[in-house]
Amino acid sequence: MRKYSVVLVFALCAMCALAATDVTGKWSRTRKLFDGRELETALYLKAEGDLLTGYWSTNGNTFPVAHGKVAGNTVSFETIHDDFGEQHKSEFTGTISGDHLDLKRVAPDGYVAIEHLTRVSQESPAAMPPAAAKISLPPAGPVSYNGLAKTPPMGWNSWNKFASQVSDKVVREVADAMAANGMRDAGYVYVNIDDTWEGSRDGEGNIQTNSKFPDMKALADYVHAKGLKLGIYSSPGPTTCAGYLGSFRHEEQDAKTYAAWGIDYLKYDWCSASQVYDYHSMPAVYAKMGEALLHSGRPIIYSLCQYGVFHGPEWGASTGGNSWRTTGDIADRWSSMSHLGFDLQLNLAQYAGPGHWNDPDMLEIGNGGMTETEYRTHMSLWSLLAAPLLAGNDLRSVKPEILAILMNREAIAIDQDALGKEAKRVAKDGDCEVWARPLADGAYAVGLFNRGASAAKVTAKWSDFGLDGKARVRDVWAHADRGLMADRFSAEVASHGVVLIRLEPAK
Ligand code: GLA
Repeated sequence: MRKYSVVLVFALCAMCALAATDVTGKWSRTRKLFDGRELETALYLKAEGDLLTGYWSTNGNTFPVAHGKVAGNTVSFETIHDDFGEQHKSEFTGTISGDHLDLKRVAPDGYVAIEHLTRVSQESPAAMPPAAAKISLPPAGPVSYNGLAKTPPMGWNSWNKFASQVSDKVVREVADAMAANGMRDAGYVYVNIDDTWEGSRDGEGNIQTNSKFPDMKALADYVHAKGLKLGIYSSPGPTTCAGYLGSFRHEEQDAKTYAAWGIDYLKYDWCSASQVYDYHSMPAVYAKMGEALLHSGRPIIYSLCQYGVFHGPEWGASTGGNSWRTTGDIADRWSSMSHLGFDLQLNLAQYAGPGHWNDPDMLEIGNGGMTETEYRTHMSLWSLLAAPLLAGNDLRSVKPEILAILMNREAIAIDQDALGKEAKRVAKDGDCEVWARPLADGAYAVGLFNRGASAAKVTAKWSDFGLDGKARVRDVWAHADRGLMADRFSAEVASHGVVLIRLEPAK
């Protein structure tokens, strides 16, 4: 008898596992933007037995469901994203309970997002809408240099800490803090508002702010009165990455509006431009805004944000760009910062120089996800790379230790060196790397880095970067002279740490 009941339980369990929940229909989640519009992310599914087909629709893009399966109350599938000619796979797994689907998406870069979707229809979905025809722009001539950013721009940007919570109040308070805490005087002058300031367009098509920014001109006046400059953000696409209005078909008009408000810096983020432009048009799309800024009547730094795809560093300067992102988004953790700062900057030094800079994304220093040792590495590496130094933390309440990292004048002097030559990796031994750049006065800045899990001895040899003869060594973080060295310098470097030195050739 006991034997039969065990068999029965097994049989019932097997049936439960096989009896797949009917998942056919539309699953959706919406979020409200500040201007009242709703942004929908939706999953359209059709189940036949355990086979799942359909499509995933987000931010105006649609991706067919591939390798879709349903088993019991779980679903799994993949989507393929064509990223400027490269195929990237996202993997989805989800659990259904009633009309709720908790969906986990692992993006190609390992980023994990959880979406909570609700079933809004049980109907079998129609075929995926065909992709709209894309605009193809003819190549645009080079845009003249605007004469700005002779050294890498320095300042603050709202995104890393505040994301959609940035407001007029936050920007004023951050500007107050930068003027009071010494950052402005150390060179951090741009106060940059990232995504989510945008409202709708008025009857004449002029972009307006949303309720978080009641008067942009007044805000610019306030920031200017503090001896600082104001930056703003837009996209060449119809919408920004956070779903707000972009500058598509309003480029000149927006550039004029920014100038009238008193804006000094524009970050222009590709985002939804992929929906409307064929990606070969990317340089021409950027040149369009470059030209518009040039004729806006105000000097405005032009910062390209297209994640380094499609050989961005090769043509960024020809669009009038003063800097161009060379990476996807930074996150406040060692793995992200070190990957972006070390691995993704190899072979880019040739594109940087006065007026035109590689941008490995904004600083995370002080946001809490890394140790102070790691943040010193972050600051040292960005300074060697002649990267824009845009703090991304809450400057209204910043610990003195963090301020000391952001305001190390000797590191800043390396970043801002007038020669504008970006560092190259000159030696690598396991987890240890040496990066070096020549400076305007004949000195060299050299970083001895240890990416490993335990302390290690790192040696910088002059011959690796073409320095001949003795040199005086200055330790930039210890603020101490280390004496005259013949042809090399060695130091014990903490795990994830750096010893940053300035080498002055002996006369
Ligand atoms: C993209 C950019 C980020 C930030 C957000 C805003 O992800 O790379 O730096 O501007 O958009 O939506």
